[in-house]
Amino acid sequence: MPLKLQSTFPALSLFGVLATLLSLPGLFGCQFPPKIDHGRYTKLFSIFSTEYKYECDSGYTLVGEEKISCSDSVWSPAAPQCKALCRTPEIANGKLSVYKIHYIEPETVTVQCNTGYGVVGSERITCLENRTWYPEVPKCERKILAGCEQVLAGKHLMQCLPGSQDVKLALEVYKLSLEIDVLELERNKEKAFQEP
Ligand SMILES: *[C@@H]1O[C@H](CO)[C@@H](O)[C@H](O)[C@H]1NC(C)=O
Repeated sequence: MPLKLQSTFPALSLFGVLATLLSLPGLFGCQFPPKIDHGRYTKLFSIFSTEYKYECDSGYTLVGEEKISCSDSVWSPAAPQCKALCRTPEIANGKLSVYKIHYIEPETVTVQCNTGYGVVGSERITCLENRTWYPEVPKCERKILAGCEQVLAGKHLMQCLPGSQDVKLALEVYKLSLEIDVLELERNKEKAFQEP
């Protein structure tokens, strides 16, 4: 069949030979260059070579060689990768183990809180492919020192009560309750003293 076709349409076979010659480097093995995530390739202008150049989407950085070409039926070097860039996390009252303008996926940083502050969340966070930190960027919150819980509780109470009158009332009730406790304690002591 092909033989018959060639003899019937000599122009067709000539076209075939021309096409083969023109795309010579491409036809010997290499098909399309590999597709990569978060990036694309463009063919560099050249008749006799099949060189392609890769570029990454914004927010991604190229890791590897940006140009590849077909040699001995394989793309060489291996296609590059587009890696996500994560912004420097902002940590109030704390710092990061390493400071950079950008962090490249899958980089991990450790958050260290200033003295008197504790990490709420994960200490170690990792830059993900979608340019976010995982888990969430933690916070540094003031540690509650032993014995200071009441002050904080009082602060919360003040926020709950609508007016200063209510605060005054609440404090008086609290004071009374303390006084009652003291009275009861004394009464118990007296009782213990009287009983032989
Ligand atoms: C980013 O990817 C992680 C893991 O796949 C996912 O949990 C998170 O919701 C994604 N964040 C956004 C903003 O898409």
